[in-house]
Amino acid sequence: MTDLVVPAVINLDVTGPVISRHLYGHFAEHLGRCIYGGFYVGEDSDLPNEGGIRLDVVAALRALDIPNLRWPGGCFADEYHWMDGIGPKSERPVMVNTHWGNVEENNHFGTHEFMALCELLGAEPYISGNVGSGTVKEMSDWVEYLTRAGDSPMVRLRKANGREEPWRVRFWGLGNEAWGCGGNMSAQQYAAEARRFGTYCRDHGDNKLYRIAAGANAADYAWTETLMKQAGELGCAYRPTGFMQALSFHYYTIPGTWQDKGDATAFDTDDYYRTMVKAAYVDELISRHSAVMDCYDPGRTVGLALDEWGTWWNVEPGTEPGFLHQQNTLRDALVAGLHFDVFHRHAGRLVMANIAQTVNVLQAMILTDPDTQALVLTPTYHVFEMNKGHHDAASLRVDPLAELPARRVGTDTLATVSLSASRKDGRVLVSLSNLDADRPADVELDLRGGAVADVRARILTAAKLQDHNTPDRPDAVAPRAHDGVTATASGLRVHLPAHSFVTVEGRLA
Ligand code: AHR
Repeated sequence: MTDLVVPAVINLDVTGPVISRHLYGHFAEHLGRCIYGGFYVGEDSDLPNEGGIRLDVVAALRALDIPNLRWPGGCFADEYHWMDGIGPKSERPVMVNTHWGNVEENNHFGTHEFMALCELLGAEPYISGNVGSGTVKEMSDWVEYLTRAGDSPMVRLRKANGREEPWRVRFWGLGNEAWGCGGNMSAQQYAAEARRFGTYCRDHGDNKLYRIAAGANAADYAWTETLMKQAGELGCAYRPTGFMQALSFHYYTIPGTWQDKGDATAFDTDDYYRTMVKAAYVDELISRHSAVMDCYDPGRTVGLALDEWGTWWNVEPGTEPGFLHQQNTLRDALVAGLHFDVFHRHAGRLVMANIAQTVNVLQAMILTDPDTQALVLTPTYHVFEMNKGHHDAASLRVDPLAELPARRVGTDTLATVSLSASRKDGRVLVSLSNLDADRPADVELDLRGGAVADVRARILTAAKLQDHNTPDRPDAVAPRAHDGVTATASGLRVHLPAHSFVTVEGRLA
């Protein structure tokens, strides 16, 4: 019990848009130890693997029901030539990964390996094609290679490489960050390129592509406007068969400067609150990109995809700067919980989100030790797991009956309690975060239009915001049962200790 009580109403019988499971999407780039050493160790590894893919990583991710995996980049996508990554491994050409550490890339993980990984994970592939340094023919051939049945030049090549049947690929990215590493284009230039590339990414047979245009950097609303306008003027973009079914944008939580982003584990309370303000900003970004899209597409035919998000810290001391390897604390978990509440509120327009990145890079789910190969699940992993019940669930509006508790952070205001809810298959899931570093809060949920029985609650917290998991202490930050939920006359009272993430689940009675 605490003196800070937050009253909120949930109408259990009034559902909003469905929360696509693809808001819980992932991203794996040829960057640092994400693919090599993370997902892929090669067939000769001593670690249990299937075709070189680490089975412990697969098992951990299967437990998250990861819906999709974006690959091969990122910036890498726009210098990747897919034909270098097929055929016998010994004959695959070596290239230099100029974006990430200037290391040699032997192309041993290519199209077949990626599709095998997706099959093992039970995840849909999301392939980012090369617009920046590739050709329309190259991209068009890749789609044919992957998705065409029957007989054709690319089908024959695929079969010669051991795959008889086509794969199913829905999500197709038309380049990445075209305003930067993807070609340094203007919005006008890119819109023309997206139209050209998107046109020749054909639907083969009944494989229907969902083409995702490379969108804005954070608050570049003009980029979104240009793309929507040019696509609309062409008169065909908004049809399911048009060249663009969605457009993306990228936003990273970086409380420091680009040169000094801040330390992943050595931070103080002020740094923490600054981080939370930056994370909460994603709400304004999605609202404003959506508002621009609404002007051109009021029927919401075009989806918005935040296909890169997450915290970005200075790399761990002693690691290669180009490998973007960082630790992950309770702070990162709270950033993730906050993002998901925002995503759920925008489920009507936001069709996909991909955390950057799944293994060993930026805000990862999994860290693997380069020497011992030990695998550690991060605090962020646990938020994804605790929120699984929201996948494809109908969103439920949460209406606070009073101003949410807030604190001043510099010139900003941060609401320190965040909530979202959904229902699916006769069950209700409520996610609650207390972002206050020191002060507990109670949320009094007034549940109307139904009741909830067999309530189970779990909590993710730790003594310190800086706590994190290591091979020696793999469960320093891990979920446990939470006994802080009590029934009230009108619903539930949920106790939230300082800096905690809580989920409450129950059966609709
Ligand atoms: O995720 C790391 C990089 O961040 C990606 O390659 C790029 O798209 C973004 O700038």
